[in-house]
Amino acid sequence: MTQVDDRIEHHTPVPAGTSAQVATTDKVRVTTPATICGMGHRMKRKEDPRFIQGKGRYVDDVKLPGMLYMDIVRSPYAHAKILKIDASAALAMDGVLAVITGEDLKKAGNLHWMPTLMSDTQMVLPIEKVVYYAQEVCAVIATERYIAADAIEKVVVDYDPLPVVIDPFEAMKDEVLVRDDKEAKTNHIWHWEAGDKDATDKVFAAAAHVVEQKIYLPRIHVASIETCGMVANYDKVRGHMQIYMTSQAPHAHRTVFALVSGLPEHQIQIISPDIGGGFGGKVPVYPGYVCCAVASLVTGKPVKWIEDRSENLQADSFARDYHIHAEMAADASGRITGLRVKTLADHGAADAAANPSKFPAGLYSICTGSYDLKAAHVVVDGVYTNKPPGGVAYRCSFRVTEAVHMIERMADIMAHEVGEDPAAFRMKNFIRPDQFPYKSPTGWEYDSGNYQAALEKAMNTIGYSDLRREQAEKRARGELMGIGISSFTEVVGAGPSRDFDILGIKMFDSAEIRIHPTGKAMARFGTKSQGQGHETTYAQIVAEELGLPAADIQIEEGDTDTAPYGLGTYASRSTPTAGAAAAMAARKIRAKAKKIAAYLLEVGEDDLEWNVDRFQVKGSPDQVKTIQEIAFAAYTNHPPGMEAGLEAVDYYDPPNLTFPFGSYIAVVDVDSGTGEVKVRRFVAIDDCGNIINPLVVEGQVHGGLTMGLAPALFEEIVYDENGQNLTGTFADYLLPTAVESPKWETGHTITPSPHHPIGAKGVGESPTVGAPPAIANAVVDALWHLGVRHLDIPITPQKVWKALRDAGVNG
Ligand code: CDP
Repeated sequence: MTQVDDRIEHHTPVPAGTSAQVATTDKVRVTTPATICGMGHRMKRKEDPRFIQGKGRYVDDVKLPGMLYMDIVRSPYAHAKILKIDASAALAMDGVLAVITGEDLKKAGNLHWMPTLMSDTQMVLPIEKVVYYAQEVCAVIATERYIAADAIEKVVVDYDPLPVVIDPFEAMKDEVLVRDDKEAKTNHIWHWEAGDKDATDKVFAAAAHVVEQKIYLPRIHVASIETCGMVANYDKVRGHMQIYMTSQAPHAHRTVFALVSGLPEHQIQIISPDIGGGFGGKVPVYPGYVCCAVASLVTGKPVKWIEDRSENLQADSFARDYHIHAEMAADASGRITGLRVKTLADHGAADAAANPSKFPAGLYSICTGSYDLKAAHVVVDGVYTNKPPGGVAYRCSFRVTEAVHMIERMADIMAHEVGEDPAAFRMKNFIRPDQFPYKSPTGWEYDSGNYQAALEKAMNTIGYSDLRREQAEKRARGELMGIGISSFTEVVGAGPSRDFDILGIKMFDSAEIRIHPTGKAMARFGTKSQGQGHETTYAQIVAEELGLPAADIQIEEGDTDTAPYGLGTYASRSTPTAGAAAAMAARKIRAKAKKIAAYLLEVGEDDLEWNVDRFQVKGSPDQVKTIQEIAFAAYTNHPPGMEAGLEAVDYYDPPNLTFPFGSYIAVVDVDSGTGEVKVRRFVAIDDCGNIINPLVVEGQVHGGLTMGLAPALFEEIVYDENGQNLTGTFADYLLPTAVESPKWETGHTITPSPHHPIGAKGVGESPTVGAPPAIANAVVDALWHLGVRHLDIPITPQKVWKALRDAGVNG
């Protein structure tokens, strides 16, 4: 067995700002044997046998005795007065028990409005008017799912259509008011700034090169495999509400439900069972959830509501919809000096994103990226339009995808403009490893990084110089080939709680570990996996710290009656927060285990050293107590005066965020006849600090890259001028499959986070954030010599074909 230090003291987190520099390596750190399977082992996911055998338990699998079903009547208009709702024909149908309207919710205690997680308000069900297409208008409750589905067709709603505003720039003129319920008669929701305007203006005034570009990141939808749903089960006798729900943040949702409904929090149990993908779309509270809970309260019976695919794609919450105007300044030697950004953020009819409350534009101000700039100034304005709520952090840490896309596109435009190879340009402008911890011009403190190492590895892996040679040869023959780079910096792991809260609830996360007498364990967390493999990787962290085999550690999340309070899983925060809490709780247990071992071995604690899964007497390795022996003694023979048992809980408030990064290189071939883009190769080198499970990380990166390819080439939610969603089915909203995806070539560098107890950073969203600009840069790289400077994603064949036609190449 490998000897390791007792790391209780060494890895105590240090406050932000004091982090020492850390070295970068390619080697995954492994300190435990395969029988224990601690960090670094490629352990197969414990949850997979259940999933691949169809034994997962999702909300729609929950069947309770006497359960009723709910379906929702939705608006065919994006903006219209409601004159009358006539539910008589629906109520006359056999099996229909109730139709719930906005008026009913109002009578039930003003439940027709609810707070959003951004402290805005959103209609649960409307009384006066609807404000987006497919908005929930009323809910039908029936004994069978299909009766409810038939009954919604029988509800007659009289609408009086109003003018619609879909374009956020038009909305800023306030000619059509989306939210006339608000005192301020304007569509402008908020104005937000970061950085130093004067310093930035000065840098621009002195610049040798300035490039500017309008960049639009379209509205997209997470489109997870499982749609949203709920089973609400109100027990009138106990006054207890049990809720099964597709929730990425069960505790936060319980608190919101308690505050809105007036039910005491201890009488609400939220169970988030297996979830088929969340990606941020299962963080907001949707009207359907509230209606379902009210339906159970009213009927006293369990009620199930499961969205269908089109409802999911047409209502709920959406991501991106950022209209960016960016300018970049550089000096005569091609060093980037400044960045000036103005952005209009289309939030639809309610600001229902789930950003931390001090960050209305999320963490967008990370937009200086991996580059060492003198100054930056970022302005964002949020605006209402007649669309469903926007601003969801779709597999992204609160608007980081938008930030990364912008800076990586701008870096490429500047590189081409000054006539430098985009890789050399980046290498010259990167923050150097010796500059960490690095204070960015917009106020972030990057914990650690080595951008040069990641880009160098990506270039070597893909054979960058050979590809550039091939490109030159092809160009000479009139063929279009492009190479695109994205060297992104991510920011994940909210808290720290001093800066991060949602609706006032501080952003930390939690772990509770209990070791049973026989040395088996149970650990519970405030986060909630939606496919990320927490049952495996959390067990590996505990195994690493305590030497218990990962197979002996059962992981539970998602039940508010049993799990410690936490803020949930989104924005790649689980590893930086709850993963850290797992290590810290385990270290508390190990500290107690040491006392028990000292008692059993009749030595002082100072005479003991930790060795993978046991305490041994220094210089006398035969005198040992394994963690299993210690666990048994904790219940059978613990020291006098000590409490029995072996368990600990930790609420981990990180001292800083973690800043994962990576370098991606895409190679594309563009068909000049059709405009079709084919991603021929894609190399992704990620750095998420110490890796808990390389197999899981590779899986996260594969999935994330496909979710990055999607908006780069295919996905966009499109509305017509009346606000109708033209992409409400998978026939129009083009999800890529394995057929459209290239073979992802993945790799890593490892630059540990100096402040995280196990040196890990988050990874889940990095590929979704990093991939779109690599692909967009590759396409523009293929066309730059024809005068094409920029193409907005999704880069469809039509857009490329038009650009080629404008360049005189075809048509
Ligand atoms: O919050 P979320 O689980 O979506 O994201 P994450 O913290 O990036 O973790 C995604 C998965 O990758 C989890 O199972 C992590 O334990 C695993 N992971 C890892 O094995 N090593 C890392 N350095 C980071 C994440």
